[in-house]
Amino acid sequence: MKALVLAGGSGTRLRPITHTSAKQLVPVANKPVLFYGLEAIAAAGVRELGIVVGDTQAEIEAAVGDGSAFGLQVTYLRQDAPLGLAHAVLIARDFLGDDDFVMYLGDNFIVGGINDLVSRFVQAKPDAQIMLTQVGDPRQFGVAELDAAGRVIGLEEKPQRPKSDLALVGVYLFTPAVHEAVAELKPSWRGELEITDAIQWLIDHGRHVESTTITGYWKDTGNVTDMLEVNRLVLEHLDAETHGVCEDSELIGRVTLQPGARVERSRIVGPAIIGPGARVSDSYVGPFTSIGADCVIDGSEIEYSIVLPRASIQGVRRIEASLIGHDVEVTPAPNTPRAHRLVLGDHSKVQISS
Ligand code: DAU
Repeated sequence: MKALVLAGGSGTRLRPITHTSAKQLVPVANKPVLFYGLEAIAAAGVRELGIVVGDTQAEIEAAVGDGSAFGLQVTYLRQDAPLGLAHAVLIARDFLGDDDFVMYLGDNFIVGGINDLVSRFVQAKPDAQIMLTQVGDPRQFGVAELDAAGRVIGLEEKPQRPKSDLALVGVYLFTPAVHEAVAELKPSWRGELEITDAIQWLIDHGRHVESTTITGYWKDTGNVTDMLEVNRLVLEHLDAETHGVCEDSELIGRVTLQPGARVERSRIVGPAIIGPGARVSDSYVGPFTSIGADCVIDGSEIEYSIVLPRASIQGVRRIEASLIGHDVEVTPAPNTPRAHRLVLGDHSKVQISS
């Protein structure tokens, strides 16, 4: 079996963070979200991996390399434009050959890995296997309709009126049958070749599409709220490790200082992680915060946030629920005197908060 990871696309919902960089590389507990997927694929026993890349190819390649660090053998597959998930399968046709494959969306985060899913597929050998989970707002996802026996009878991509609250999770297992379906597709109303349409094609042509509904934790990290939530979840399971230097400071709960991190005259309440080479001084870092490599946090307070490498936050109280990009500088605004400029008619009565 091979794996196909999708790490192209444009990441509009994470802008401006992803304006210049890949959304799949936004870190969760100081590790790119993509790496959790690669680890899950390797743990499921897959070795040959194709990564679909677009404009951010150079960045993805620099981070993942030849895949040997994950025990994987990586082939990069260039997609010139993000024309849809099924288009990614189309351009990967030669790489995939006649092998079964697991397709994994590079911005998805699944707790507990994919071992069970892969072994169920290998045993039952359906033409395709999908994973579903209940969501609050199905309109943002691919949505499945099941019959009374629990079989998938219909799939719709981001429907205005969803037929169920069961969303497609971004991990799919396919036999080469999917290539027949993909070859028949026409672009959808949003101009993409939809993988949901390919799976619908398989259903309509009498192929066996299996679904499992997961109740465990899954997130599409496409927006900031979900990103912070995944960061919280990963930090919940963090083990405290001190590889850095801590002076005149309090580390409370599970706090990890990565090699070369330095904490001075500060209070850090875990779970939290301070990246390699980062410096925290005269500050408070609260729970569920990841401070990236070589950041500077000075005279500031921050919690429930992700700070990307080399950002500097100085003299700012207080930051929370924030995603701060790499090389960002945050400083307090200068205290300029505030003035009101008024043109008031005769006998006016105004209330001004001063
Ligand atoms: O997260 C689950 C959802 O993922 C499913 O419920 C939907 O059915 C599925 O279409 C997908 O929806 P998204 O809107 O979240 O897909 P997104 O555009 O974010 O793309 C998912 C990943 O695939 C992301 O890492 C970018 C990559 N991608 C996307 C497109 C459209 C590509 O590599 N090439 C592409 O052409």
